[in-house]
Amino acid sequence: MTARIRDLTDEECRRALVLKWGTTAAGVIPAWVAEMDYALAPVVHEALARAVADGVTGYPVYDDQPELGEAYAGFAHRHFGWEVAPHRVRPTSDVTAGIRVALDVLSDPGPVVLPVPAYHPQLDVVGLTGRERADLVLDADAARAELDLDRLDALLAGGARTLLLTQPHNPWGRVFSRAELEGVRDVVLRHGARVVSDEIHAPLVLPGAEHVPYLSLEGTADHAVAVVAASKAFNTAGLRCAQIVTGDDATARTLREVPMARNDSWSPLGEVAAVAAYRDGDAWLAALLERLDGLRALLGEQLATHLPHVRMRPLEATYLAWLDVRASGHDDPAAEALAHGVRLAPGHHYHPGLAGHVRLNLATSPERLTEIVRRLGAAW
Ligand SMILES: Cc1ncc(COP(=O)(O)O)c(C=O)c1O
Repeated sequence: MTARIRDLTDEECRRALVLKWGTTAAGVIPAWVAEMDYALAPVVHEALARAVADGVTGYPVYDDQPELGEAYAGFAHRHFGWEVAPHRVRPTSDVTAGIRVALDVLSDPGPVVLPVPAYHPQLDVVGLTGRERADLVLDADAARAELDLDRLDALLAGGARTLLLTQPHNPWGRVFSRAELEGVRDVVLRHGARVVSDEIHAPLVLPGAEHVPYLSLEGTADHAVAVVAASKAFNTAGLRCAQIVTGDDATARTLREVPMARNDSWSPLGEVAAVAAYRDGDAWLAALLERLDGLRALLGEQLATHLPHVRMRPLEATYLAWLDVRASGHDDPAAEALAHGVRLAPGHHYHPGLAGHVRLNLATSPERLTEIVRRLGAAW
């Protein structure tokens, strides 16, 4: 049977997505937090239903997770051509916790370079580890969202010790090319710095782009970790199981020795969902990417028709479009949108002080997306 994406009705959305829909006023269409208005992938649903029926609600196994390691290694091989040693896949509660642990345990104490705009908890997670943030700011007027390697070089020369890379990038929408990532690697190597690569959006690379795992590049194994998860692509963020992938055994050992109290342990149900998604979710994921590709095109057409002065950064991955609305003259276009019945994520959450930008989540039905843009046309 071919997999298909089932749209949830408004009523189902309100029951399922307790944050995205449950905290949004009736009549307002939520297009903010990164969750999708779709039914769970049947393979994930069935695995979870079985696990709940079996009562798998206790502690996870803390030492080894061979099934999860094998499942992720298989996924990485099939989707990215990346060979991962299963024993180097270590669960953690979520991606943000994985980043915090990686910084805490593996990085020198110096500042952390963060490309900004950034997924907003990343703005805070650096400080929680007692480190300063060194922002690598994207010029809002730049034709293409690129990492400024000269600036990265200067920040590392100035004492920063780690780069917190997000790729594919939220909210830039970029999938960095092999050449760009090799450029990053060369700068990092020159300064003996580390990389934490948040690759949560890697399964969501859209047609036309290709994800290159940072750790798949030569010369990165001993200075980088990747923090990955099935949760963004399979709508399971609440189940709490991300993974830290290491490139060498020494780093894997260091992470394994982290006391539980620091690591925020993961949920066994999250592990069940991740194994099912990685091992059996390819057909559903392919259907999802086809759907998102269509919505990306629809959003482009609708914006061109109703809001030609709004600039959307090319969306190479994710379902999160970054819109520059400055030409409409509104400093806080998300507030205007809300007043017209659409809840967006304000751009200044991702880049404090940045005016005139929003992030729009397009992972909904074509009908809702069309209505969203119609309302935004009235708002802006
Ligand atoms: C780049 C990025 N990292 C991490 C997360 C959150 O992951 P988690 O809920 O596992 O901490 C998100 C959520 O949208 C994200 O966009």
